Amino acid sequence: MTAEWLTIALPKGRIFEEAVELLRKAGYQIPPDFDESRKLIIEVEEEGIRFILAKPMDVPTYVEHGVADIGIAGKDVMLEEERDVYELLDLHISECYLAVAGLPNAVLNDVAPKVATKYPNVASSYFRAKGEQVEIIKLNGSIELAPLIGLADRIVDIVSTGRTLVENGLVEYEKIVSITSRLIVNPVSYRLKDRMVHDMVHRLSEVVGEK
Ligand code: PRP
Repeated sequence: MTAEWLTIALPKGRIFEEAVELLRKAGYQIPPDFDESRKLIIEVEEEGIRFILAKPMDVPTYVEHGVADIGIAGKDVMLEEERDVYELLDLHISECYLAVAGLPNAVLNDVAPKVATKYPNVASSYFRAKGEQVEIIKLNGSIELAPLIGLADRIVDIVSTGRTLVENGLVEYEKIVSITSRLIVNPVSYRLKDRMVHDMVHRLSEVVGEK
């Protein structure tokens, strides 16, 4: 038995596969069936590591509360959640960006155009900084639907390949910020489990950017 476990929160969904690939490249012995499992807590005893599989937006919450020592989270989630965690490493995976998009040639006559998004804090700050008054409508997914059915004038959402916009006849108006995934750590774990945390940062930083 390992005396001290390191608990790592991984985001289910898009980032997951790339994150696991990176961990394997860094030499972590992750079981082959890890990717298909439905389990939410997976222990890799040889490494002294316990993975918890969380919704991407919740990863910083687990890390802030210290139930996970480390997490992998998109910069989009970090900007939206503003949690009290340390960001240790840009993993350069799941590259994408946040953008304002909408129907082409849509004229914004409203005093406060409606903006649908999964990122209400990021969107509010962005438009506030531009001095534009908008009404934010929070959605949890399929954001591109909003302008198509008249729920919103604009969306603020992730663009990766751009296919979702194109296939739904939407255009990008402004790029807000580039996004990659980050390695984050709980401030207490950073001190108390410094050897394990630094070992992980070191091993990952050696393989970051390799293709
Ligand atoms: C994300 C994002 C866009 C899409 C962009 O949604 O919100 O909808 O991916 O990717 P693309 O530029 O490669 O088309 P996701 O599939 O993660 O699901 P969601 O709609 O539930 O947020």
